[in-house]
Amino acid sequence: MNLDIRPLAHDDIPAIIRDFAPRDPDKSAERWARVLEANRTGLRVTLVAWLEGKAVGVASVIWVSNYPPFAEAGIPEINSMSVVEPLRGRGIGSAIVRACEHVAIERGCPVMGIGVGLTESYARAQRLYPHLGYEFDEHGVFTNDWGSARYLTKRLAPAAPQPTPP
Ligand SMILES: CC(C)(COP(=O)(O)OP(=O)(O)OC[C@H]1O[C@@H](n2cnc3c(N)ncnc32)[C@H](O)[C@@H]1OP(=O)(O)O)[C@@H](O)C(=O)NCCC(=O)NCCS
Repeated sequence: MNLDIRPLAHDDIPAIIRDFAPRDPDKSAERWARVLEANRTGLRVTLVAWLEGKAVGVASVIWVSNYPPFAEAGIPEINSMSVVEPLRGRGIGSAIVRACEHVAIERGCPVMGIGVGLTESYARAQRLYPHLGYEFDEHGVFTNDWGSARYLTKRLAPAAPQPTPP
């Protein structure tokens, strides 16, 4: 599969709306303009996966998570990941997660975080993240205005060398 994953650019937005949200183009245009602005100001890095000229997947790395334990520990979060429905289960989501991890590694982050909803619509994500090396954290279910989720982390780089005992 000739998948190209690259940061969101202004000129990508019409194709993303066409391929992801054709039903409500005005609302989507506003939303993607906000996402682009957050990339420009450095709040997030949004990656788009392209296959044969079509946008087939997206996700963002956000540097300050809305999940308090990640924000307090400075753990970036993979956020708003989605793959177009007909192409799910072919490795695109896994490739996007790896690309997001690469973004965090380049910034020197030792740990990556991700959250997943508890309902059936997130079933594939619930299975996928542990397969990719993510472990549920120790805080249990987190609930806010958007619903309930659990959060997972993955160590990206080897731990700093321990001081040698005297
Ligand atoms: C979650 C989501 C982003 C994953 O994307 P995806 O492209 O389906 O993910 P992958 O294809 O990499 O992995 C899904 C499964 O396919 C399997 N798979 C991956 N590549 C494969 C291949 N080449 N052949 C067969 N199976 C494959 C994976 O092992 C995984 O199996 P599992 O369900 O047993 O864990 C996608 O399903 C989605 O958009 N879901 C709805 C929105 C959502 O839940 N977003 C996440 C918010 S937390």
